[in-house]
Amino acid sequence: MNGLELDRITKRFGRVTVADELTLSVRHGDAVGVVGPNGAGKTSLFGMISGDLRPDAGEVRFDGHRVTLLDPSVRCRLGIGRTYQVPRPFLRMSVFENTLVAAQQGARARGRASYALAARVLGETGLADLAGRPAAQLGLLQRKRLELARALATRPKLLLLDEVAGGLTDPEVTELVALITAARERDGLAVLWIEHVVRALTATVDRLICLAGGRVIGDGRPLEVLASAAVKDVFLGTEATADALTEAGLGPDDDQRA
Ligand SMILES: Nc1ncnc2c1ncn2[C@@H]1O[C@H](COP(=O)(O)OP(=O)(O)OP(=O)(O)O)[C@@H](O)[C@H]1O
Ligand SMILES: [Mg+2]
Repeated sequence: MNGLELDRITKRFGRVTVADELTLSVRHGDAVGVVGPNGAGKTSLFGMISGDLRPDAGEVRFDGHRVTLLDPSVRCRLGIGRTYQVPRPFLRMSVFENTLVAAQQGARARGRASYALAARVLGETGLADLAGRPAAQLGLLQRKRLELARALATRPKLLLLDEVAGGLTDPEVTELVALITAARERDGLAVLWIEHVVRALTATVDRLICLAGGRVIGDGRPLEVLASAAVKDVFLGTEATADALTEAGLGPDDDQRA
């Protein structure tokens, strides 16, 4: 199959099961959101897709290649790009240099073409004015943008976004959503997006997955998944996600009114 397939992957850290025979597929061009309570295993799932983590069992395939045991750099060249929940730029390098490394190592662009690609991506992510600034001097929003620029500069077919909207103001979230939507329209890339800011997801994705205890407990249209009993059950009682449900018009009060 074209795209990503996770086939019964299992991963445990001691007694904590972060993936429990988890099966999932994402086709090229899909936009899929991922929600789940803190510690549900969302970031670990990304690790197994990008190659930072190896599952104990099961298989990861991308465009028909078995990538389960391949290094992150190889998977990146196959078209899997990711951002990290905690941004990881090369701090002493400039914004431009950070993006250039991604273009050269990830997209294998060379010479002038790599400079042009890095410059284009910085324009798209609103970082052109900061190109010469050392990454260490960036604020949170700018670091999140750089994280996105570095991932886009690898020219992914599948972009994994891990909480890129966290900590941003409402207008900043709107800007970010527009930027990701534009990248999808331009390059036709698939997106798998972990986010606690549910508004950002419902504005972008047509499918939502909810993870809990290493299993998929919801998969379908975003509002239907958020409204399902199993999903409400794991979310209620957690403050951040109760807020998220209210934000989507699905809080406990909304239920009583219905
Ligand atoms: N390298 C590791 N070693 C041991 N335990 C780990 C490791 N990575 C993650 N865990 C544990 O696995 C569980 C899932 O962590 P993970 O970061 O995947 O969750 P998450 O769904 O991304 O959470 P959050 O919403 O807080 O980002 C947590 O209990 C975490 O402490
Ligand atoms: Mg996480």
